This record gives sequence, C-alpha cells and structure tokens, in this order.
Amino acid sequence: MGDITEYNPNDSDNHGRNDGVNKAVVESFRIIGTGSCVPPRVVSNEDLTAFMDTSDEWIRSRTGIEQRHICTTETTSELAVGAARNALENANASVDEIDLILCATISGEYICPSMAALVQKSLGCQCPCMDISAACTGWIYLMDTAAAFFAKGGVRKALIIGAESMSRVLNWHDRSTAVLFGDGAGAAVLEAGDNYLGASFVTEGNDEVIAIPGKKGNSPWYDREERTGLLHMDGQETYKFAVSHLPKRIDEVLEKAGLTTADLDWVVPHQANKRIIDSAARRMKEIPAEHFCVNLQKYGNTSAASIPLLLDEWNRAGKFKEGDLLAMVAFGGGLSSAACLLRW
Ligand code: ACO
Repeated sequence: MGDITEYNPNDSDNHGRNDGVNKAVVESFRIIGTGSCVPPRVVSNEDLTAFMDTSDEWIRSRTGIEQRHICTTETTSELAVGAARNALENANASVDEIDLILCATISGEYICPSMAALVQKSLGCQCPCMDISAACTGWIYLMDTAAAFFAKGGVRKALIIGAESMSRVLNWHDRSTAVLFGDGAGAAVLEAGDNYLGASFVTEGNDEVIAIPGKKGNSPWYDREERTGLLHMDGQETYKFAVSHLPKRIDEVLEKAGLTTADLDWVVPHQANKRIIDSAARRMKEIPAEHFCVNLQKYGNTSAASIPLLLDEWNRAGKFKEGDLLAMVAFGGGLSSAACLLRW
C-alpha cells in the first residue's frame, strides 16, 4: 500500500513545516530545479499518414509540429513520477524536503486517487497532495496555487507537475485533432522565495469549443441524454480565442506588476501552434522573436505539460540567466487563458 499522507501544522517535528517559514518575509517561491519525462516512442507526421488522410506538409505548415511522443505501455502518472525525480535531482533536493505536491492533468489514468497522490506513493514522501484540472492553462494555476500555499506559510519546498497522456483521450479517427497532441510531463521544485510575481486568469465557461466528456451517469434512475466520448475541438474558434487572449493576459499581468513588455526577457508560451506564437510575437515587437520559447515541433501540444517541458529544456541548456523576467502564458479548455510572471 502507499504512504499515508500526514500533515499537522502544529507538529513541530513535521519537517519544520510549522516554523520553517517566516510569513512576513516569504510570500512566494523561486524555482530551484526542473525536470521532464516523455515516453520513448516517437510518432512522426509521416507515421500518421499510414492510417489517416493527412500529410507531413499539412501538419507542419498549419501547426509547426513535426513529431510527438506517444505512450505505449507508460501511464500518465509514470511520466509524472519520471519528471518529478528528474526535477528533484536537478534541484539537488531530497524527497523528504517536499511539503506539497500539486499536479495538473486532464488525462490521468484515475479520477481518484489524484495524480499527486500517485506521485507521492512512488516517491515515498508524506505531504498534502492535490490535482488541478484546467486543461492547457493548468501549469499557470499550479504556479499560483503553489504561491498561495507558500504565502500561507508552512511549506519549505513544493513539487509541481504538469503531466498528460493526450493520446488516451484523442479520437484517432479525427484528423483535425489527432495530429495536434502528444504525451509528456514536466515538473519544477519550488522553494520559498520572492521570485514569483503573480498571475492573471480568465475563464469563459464553454463546453462546445473544447470538450472531453466524462462518464455518463450510470445509476438505475439516471435518465438524461449526455455526450460521451473523446476530445472534441473546434480548431478555428480555439485559434481565434488564443491569438486574442495570449497578448492580453501578458499585458495584464505585466501591468499588475508595474512592468512592461520591454522588461521581459522570455515568453514561455503554451505549445499548441507555431502560428499562434508567431502572431503574439508580431504584437510584442520589443521582445526578439527568438525569446519566444518553442519546442512544439518535437512534442506537439502536451496540454498542461507543455510549459514545464519548455522550462526544463531552456533551463538545462543554460539559456535563462539569474534575474531574467519570464512570462508564462497559456490558453485552452475552459475556455481558459492565463499568464504569470517569474524571475529566474
Ligand atoms: N490533415 C489534412 N487536412 C486536414 C487535417 C489534417 N490533419 N485537419 C483538417 N484538415 C482539413 C480540413 O478538413 C479542411 O478541409 P476543407 O477545407 O476541405 O474543409 C482544411 O484542412 C482546413 O481546416 P481548418 O480547420 O480550417 O484548418 P486551420 O487552418 O484552421 O488549422 C488547426 C486547424 C491547426 C487545428 C488550427 O485551427 C489550430 O491550431 N487551432 C488551435 C488549436 C489549439 O490551440 N488548441 C489548444 C487548446 S487544446 C486543449 O485545451 C485541450
């Protein structure tokens, strides 16, 4: 059986959770390590043409995607655990120091237990665990929720993970969606600090443009027609939503922080479509186009995992310098959009 989650804020032996953080000084966090994990099976655009009426040329020119990683035997939580271990190693942190695990996913293998609890079981630590469901904006919600836990006090280090097996929820006969997504996980280890500067969120409740229906009610009394099935997305409506919301969320969060686009060093955008990122880059001319991070050609859209996969790649390549200002920005199911600011 897995480990029992025990958290008593009045227990002074509880890894110092009660007295380890001075609330008056520490209000947010800094990232001290990143990690990622993708399944080894690579599926190229060409591979998809074997069973779908599509082409490498169509997918590349409309989206920028060249390949994606797809699970064969791996589960979403296994990817999450792989990214978590990788991030702990990068942070030089031990599992015992982790006081909180938060995961974002819309494609876990369980509804209950949470993916965070499954990660905890594998890592063998004891701390509060919770999942967030906000589709592709999940990573921004993770950052802001973690900030709230740090501000409340009692958390020394936290592990946040975005993990998805979108291949589980795709209709592999629908060429308009199946070619866009991939599987993977990214994670970060957070430590109390003051590098997180806040977020801006918008949700326009809508289950028509993007939806993954859940299980139908199955009691003997349930008598309502309901949609069931796999991911449905109206690509053009999502595209319009994305290109208008992405720059707006960045402007809002900068304004809240008393900063401007001229202060930004990096934009770390959700990886759905290169054309959406290019459109944002054209509107934000103060930032060189090459400072919009892009790796969607390798992974496709990995939903809540896409921003942490980028963070890990750029971090390990040494591209972020201490003090750099990053804007992370995402859009997707909800319909939701969000951005947050972080000093590296
Ligand atoms: N291969 C070949 N042809 C295709 C494919 C394919 N894979 N998919 C669609 N087509 C065809 C269509 O049938 C259509 O043909 P028709 O003109 O004969 O009817 C034609 O290509 C054009 O289709 P459009 O949908 O107009 O293509 P568009 O240029 O809008 O690109 C795309 C579609 C790539 C989906 C784009 O709209 C997009 O990227 N939207 C945003 C998606 C997104 O960002 N999602 C993120 C959120 S997801 C989440 O939160 C879970």
